[in-house]
Amino acid sequence: MRRKLVAGNWKMHGTRESAEKLVAAIVADFPTHCDVAVFPPFPYLVPLIEQHGAKLAFGAQDCSEHDDGAYTGDVSASMLKDTGCRYVLAGHSERRQYHHETDALIACKVVKALEHGLTPILCVGESLEEHDAGRTVDVVQRQLGKVIEHCGIAVFERVIVAYEPVWAIGTGRTASPEKAQSVHALLRSQLAQADAKIANSTRILYGGSVKPDNAAELFAENDIDGGLIGGASLKAPDFLAICAAAH
Ligand code: 13P
Repeated sequence: MRRKLVAGNWKMHGTRESAEKLVAAIVADFPTHCDVAVFPPFPYLVPLIEQHGAKLAFGAQDCSEHDDGAYTGDVSASMLKDTGCRYVLAGHSERRQYHHETDALIACKVVKALEHGLTPILCVGESLEEHDAGRTVDVVQRQLGKVIEHCGIAVFERVIVAYEPVWAIGTGRTASPEKAQSVHALLRSQLAQADAKIANSTRILYGGSVKPDNAAELFAENDIDGGLIGGASLKAPDFLAICAAAH
């Protein structure tokens, strides 16, 4: 049985004060029936982890593919580990789109995260254009395939996958549970072609306009092992309601 994970990706939102209030509210009503993690902007990670890291798991929204060196503006996986982060996102669609991250680069980031003891959450998903052209399967299989090819299947004992259709992110347009399930099943069968046992244990999260009113039906699907939540993770009652739906 795969334990569900609900992860809140705050993206570039909020202030230090709002971040502290949000985490305090989550911790005060902490769900124990599923795993929970939040991904605040970099500057808020240290104070939040110092205060709440014993109870709540934290992750970063990105890491460098390098160990250290002259890479202005970048943050390494070892630094994140050092601050007490447990997770890191790799290849979020906003990184792919606005920072031109390629499948090969993302695979390198997954390697660095694992080398430094972080759990990477590998994000895959098709754009609206790709979706409308019927290319969903091609795109997500290429994105996942690149990491399998570069890192090997064994890493998926630790890597978490998140399917986030780009057309559903921040749009209020969610993939139907059936549609999301079909893509999740496809990703799992791609993993299973390399190793059925690992595929069965790999968690595959869904992300894209998950809200309190649609979370339960998404999480009820066989291959949906939790959610990667954007907008709704910025409001404690909504985030906690989504966690409650993750049995
Ligand atoms: P929304 O939940 O706001 O659609 O964002 C999803 C997302 O991108 C999480 O990483």
